Amino acid sequence: MSTPQPSAERRPRGASVDLSLAPHAAPADEDVVEQKEGEIGPTGRPLRFIPEPPLIAHHGPAKVLAVCNQKGGVGKTTSTINLGAALAEIGRRVLLVDFDPQGALSVGLGIQPHHLDQTIYNVIMEREVDVENVIMRTNVADMDLLPSNIDLSAAEVQLVAEVGREHTLVRTLRPVMDRYDYVLVDCQPSLGLLTVNALAAADGVLIPLECEFFSLRGVALLIDTIEKVRERLNPKLEITGILATMYDPRTLHSREVMARVVEAFGEVVFDTVINRTVRFPETTVAGEPITSWAPRSSGAKAYRSLAREVIAR
Ligand SMILES: Nc1ncnc2c1ncn2[C@@H]1O[C@H](COP(=O)(O)OP(=O)(O)OP(=O)(O)O)[C@@H](O)[C@H]1O
Ligand SMILES: [Mg+2]
Repeated sequence: MSTPQPSAERRPRGASVDLSLAPHAAPADEDVVEQKEGEIGPTGRPLRFIPEPPLIAHHGPAKVLAVCNQKGGVGKTTSTINLGAALAEIGRRVLLVDFDPQGALSVGLGIQPHHLDQTIYNVIMEREVDVENVIMRTNVADMDLLPSNIDLSAAEVQLVAEVGREHTLVRTLRPVMDRYDYVLVDCQPSLGLLTVNALAAADGVLIPLECEFFSLRGVALLIDTIEKVRERLNPKLEITGILATMYDPRTLHSREVMARVVEAFGEVVFDTVINRTVRFPETTVAGEPITSWAPRSSGAKAYRSLAREVIAR
């Protein structure tokens, strides 16, 4: 008897088409002008003094940072991967939590999440699943990943009926908090229950903000949500910083948006600014952070200086 073959009509359209891109070679060095304390930085302010990050002998308990903005495509996932890798480079143990059913964080680290049997979905919804068994090593030393895939989209609905639904992620992470120095949670572009879980678990929020006019409009709502979570669920929650991303110093528009962001949010805006460069989409194809794929690029240097700012805050 022959094995039944799925009929052509029932196969999802496009399933047989390979859409992957071939990763290409990493770029040569880029000339990056190092800026020093006191000089005017890209934010238009003098650069603040950032001390060298201290070496640490003991790890944990982790500081949890939620990387959050309900606007899509502003650099949340890119910042989570590259900040994580830069923190790991300076001796911090890092866990990245993919908290977006799109699984882009996992893909960006070279993992195909739809092939995984167990993801963060199983850890948060099935009490018998041990988080330690779902955490994966990445190719970056000292940086681990709690992966996600499309299964997580069901959790948003299923969690509504749970007791303590906003604290599900906190409970999930508790057993591994002592093993890491930083847990970075890559949120999905919404302010729904998953994001509220991330905020309830976090010590701080890192808000990537694209240097583009429409980006400014949603930030007030995001800050309002952060304040509500602080009042009602998590009194320790702070805004760690606002990170300007996709900045193009050549355009007046980028510079104007930047000036407005600094005027509106002041000190909380990081001195580090992430320029718009094709290197970032390229790293996603390569499946690794920019700090290892193009270690001398301006993008890698920017995320290293962000890591120093994050440690100093
Ligand atoms: N500084 C940058 N310069 C150019 N492209 C960038 C930069 N940062 C990110 N990108 C690209 O922009 C796209 C969106 O970035 P990313 O996935 O990090 O955003 P996101 O906020 O996580 O999106 P989503 O809301 O869908 O989760 C990706 O293709 C990424 O490679
Ligand atoms: Mg993302």
